[in-house]
Amino acid sequence: MVPAWLWLLCLSVPQALPKAQAAELHVEVPENYGGNFPLYLTKLPLPREKAEGQVVLSGNSNTAVGDLFAVDPDSGFLLVTRALDREEQAEYQLQVTLEAEDGQVLWGPQPVRVHVRDENDQVPHFSQAVYRVQLSQGTRPGVPFLFLEASDGDEPGTANSDLRFRILNQAPAQPFPDMFQLEPRLGALALSPKGSTGLDQALEGPYQLLVQVKDMGDQASGHQATATVDVSIVESTWVPQDPVHLAENLKVPYPHHISQVHWSGGDVHYHLESQPPGPFDVDAEGKVYVTRELDREAQAEYLLQVRAQNARGEDYTEPLELQVVVMDENDNAPLCPPRGPPISMPELSPPGTKVTRLLAEDMDAPGSPNSHVVYRLLSPELEEGTEGRAFELDSTSGSVMLGALPLHAGQHILLQVLAVDLGGAEGGLSSTCEVTVTVTDVNDHAPEFTTSQIEPVSLPEDTEPGTLVATLTATDADLEPAFRLMDFAIEAGDTDGTFGLDWEPGSGHVQLQLLKNLSYEAAPSHELVVVVRSVAPLVGPGAGPGATATVTVLVERVLPLPKLDQESYEASVPVNSPAGSFLLTIQPSDPTSRPLRFSLVNDSEGWLCIREVSGEVLTARRLQGARPGDTYTVLVEAQDAGEPTLSTSVTLVIHFLKASSAPAPTLALVPTPHLCTPRNNHGVIVSGLGEDADLGDGHSPYSFALGPNPTMQRDWRIQALNGSHAYLTLALHWVEPSEYSVPVIVSRNTQMWQLLVRVIVCRCNKEGQCLLKVGRMKGMPTKLSAVGILVGTLLAIGIFLILIFTHLTLARKKDLDQPGDSVPLKAAV
Ligand SMILES: *[C@@H]1O[C@H](CO)[C@@H](O)[C@H](O)[C@H]1NC(C)=O
Ligand SMILES: *[C@@H]1O[C@H](CO)[C@@H](O)[C@H](O)[C@H]1NC(C)=O
Ligand SMILES: *[C@@H]1O[C@H](CO)[C@@H](O)[C@H](O)[C@H]1NC(C)=O
Repeated sequence: MVPAWLWLLCLSVPQALPKAQAAELHVEVPENYGGNFPLYLTKLPLPREKAEGQVVLSGNSNTAVGDLFAVDPDSGFLLVTRALDREEQAEYQLQVTLEAEDGQVLWGPQPVRVHVRDENDQVPHFSQAVYRVQLSQGTRPGVPFLFLEASDGDEPGTANSDLRFRILNQAPAQPFPDMFQLEPRLGALALSPKGSTGLDQALEGPYQLLVQVKDMGDQASGHQATATVDVSIVESTWVPQDPVHLAENLKVPYPHHISQVHWSGGDVHYHLESQPPGPFDVDAEGKVYVTRELDREAQAEYLLQVRAQNARGEDYTEPLELQVVVMDENDNAPLCPPRGPPISMPELSPPGTKVTRLLAEDMDAPGSPNSHVVYRLLSPELEEGTEGRAFELDSTSGSVMLGALPLHAGQHILLQVLAVDLGGAEGGLSSTCEVTVTVTDVNDHAPEFTTSQIEPVSLPEDTEPGTLVATLTATDADLEPAFRLMDFAIEAGDTDGTFGLDWEPGSGHVQLQLLKNLSYEAAPSHELVVVVRSVAPLVGPGAGPGATATVTVLVERVLPLPKLDQESYEASVPVNSPAGSFLLTIQPSDPTSRPLRFSLVNDSEGWLCIREVSGEVLTARRLQGARPGDTYTVLVEAQDAGEPTLSTSVTLVIHFLKASSAPAPTLALVPTPHLCTPRNNHGVIVSGLGEDADLGDGHSPYSFALGPNPTMQRDWRIQALNGSHAYLTLALHWVEPSEYSVPVIVSRNTQMWQLLVRVIVCRCNKEGQCLLKVGRMKGMPTKLSAVGILVGTLLAIGIFLILIFTHLTLARKKDLDQPGDSVPLKAAV
């Protein structure tokens, strides 16, 4: 439930608060109303049911409206009590409210605006009764030189205050009656075109003008007033001015007065324009000022235009021109050209070659000493003891040329040139201009070998192609890498392309290589001439002797090593083989190869010998100490007969076998004389001269020894007769008559061979002749002698047997003391 008191409050709110502002009522009252008063103006929209309240009227200003306006309580009309004057107050702002007795506002406030409608009851007034004005000659027609001022009290904007000016009279009316024109609405007085020409012809005046002002606009009726204008004509002082010369950087207080202009007419306003815009100003009196320092280099000249204007900003006449010239001061040093990249000059350039031109600019006035620049070369300085300088400078133009002193590739030279103004006079300003000159290389150096004569190089014939023979080094004194590139070639000595060159571009090292097989037979030596050239074309004198190098290559002969038909050799020999027993032949694998010489290297036992030429290996002596089953290894060396350093060695393995009973195979025999038994002092001559006699030198002696058979050594004795012969005799007193083959080892130098000497041992008569022929002796026996022989033989056999048995008995007795030696003897029998 809503409380009852809140409900009441809600209903009473609109009554308690004033109503929203009501629309303003607008009422117009004619000024100076001539009818009856009070004049009812308008009925106020008062609420009828609230009539018991009191109507309150109030103004918005201090104006007491109480007696001027009122509200008729009965009719609710607003009324005015007397005539209103618009010029006194043009508008009244009223407020009407209906209030209860306790002051509570019952209705309103209702704003009411009361406007007083104007009546033309005011007369226009000139601001002055007499105007005095000076008119300068040269004033353009139509440009007002005087503004007449008039006022009218009536309401502005209505015809009642709409004023019109006009000239009523001009005195004198010379030379024309209408010298002037007056702009009717504005009251602007100006010369008429005609009057302008008249004024220029001769100095006239003064003139007196009667002017009128009238309200109500262009209507014929209206209030009017008059005034007098006295126009005095003055000579024009608006004359051209001399140029003003102003020093730049002038140290004076600013603004600084530089000139004066004057417009002799009245009401002038000066206006200044600078072309180009500059720090200039003009004041109300026509004084021209510069407001700050000038800089000739920024702007050397200004053209000022000063205008004389009326209040409306219209020019009375043409603007006055004033030239301002800024005077130069030497406040700018010569300016060097911006430092560019280094200038490249090829070395060897002739003197006088233009290098560059250092043109220093001076911002000061052209053609004046302030901008007259001369040049001096500061660096490089003239060096002591040198003739001339590397650079020459033209002091007036700043051109730099090459001097007499030559330049060298790779030099970086800093050129410093002093540029001075005032023509180099004392007190001139200066700058140092710099430019770098880089001396570029020219390919004027030919490459050269560091050594032109190389030590001879020895190469074996079998050197493989691709082998490095020699490395040559060449240098080039030029700097530019492109000029240091070299080409190499074999100029002479290699017609068939056996050799070649290989090099890394830019390295300066060239490798001489073998490309083909060498041949000692074809060419035992090569003299190679290697030449080096610059890849880039050469400037100046050509290559010198250093451009060639000679390499001598000596070819070493290579002979094949001797080659034998077997890798190793083996032979077997019975341990009882006599000296001179043939074992085997060592021979070359290719019978047509170069002749060889054989020798034994380490035959420490001395058992063997080898024939130097044929390679036959024999036993040199009895193999004393060798045991069956053993082996004996020696090295055999085979040398090239013509080139002893070429040799090869091979092993020879001897296998020892059990002693063989078979005698050695037949060998060379000597003729057979006979020896007698029992022994007499005869012997047999053995000659050493044999099949090898022709190979020896014939002077070295032969030596003789009995073969290794022990029986033979017991039974026989051999002794040397002279260098080539020996004497073989019986060693025992008795030797069984028989035919014997006695082995004799003959040795001479390293050679050794065996002879089998055939000897017949027989019984002899007193004369030393054989009594009984044995074997297949030659000669046919007679029947008688045969019987004799048979009987003799039987007899002899009997005696022989007795002797043998006696001997055996004696031998058996001996065997008890000495066993051994007799066994082989018994076996032999
Ligand atoms: C060069 O010699 C090698 C070895 O002696 C041989 O194998 C090769 O065939 C030879 N080349 C020429 C082109 O004679
Ligand atoms: C000889 O030399 C060979 C190889 O060095 C060796 O095998 C052999 O035993 C040597 N012979 C002697 C008798 O020294
Ligand atoms: C050596 O002696 C033999 C036999 O007496 C003889 O024939 C030969 O001429 C002798 N030789 C020399 C060189 O004396």
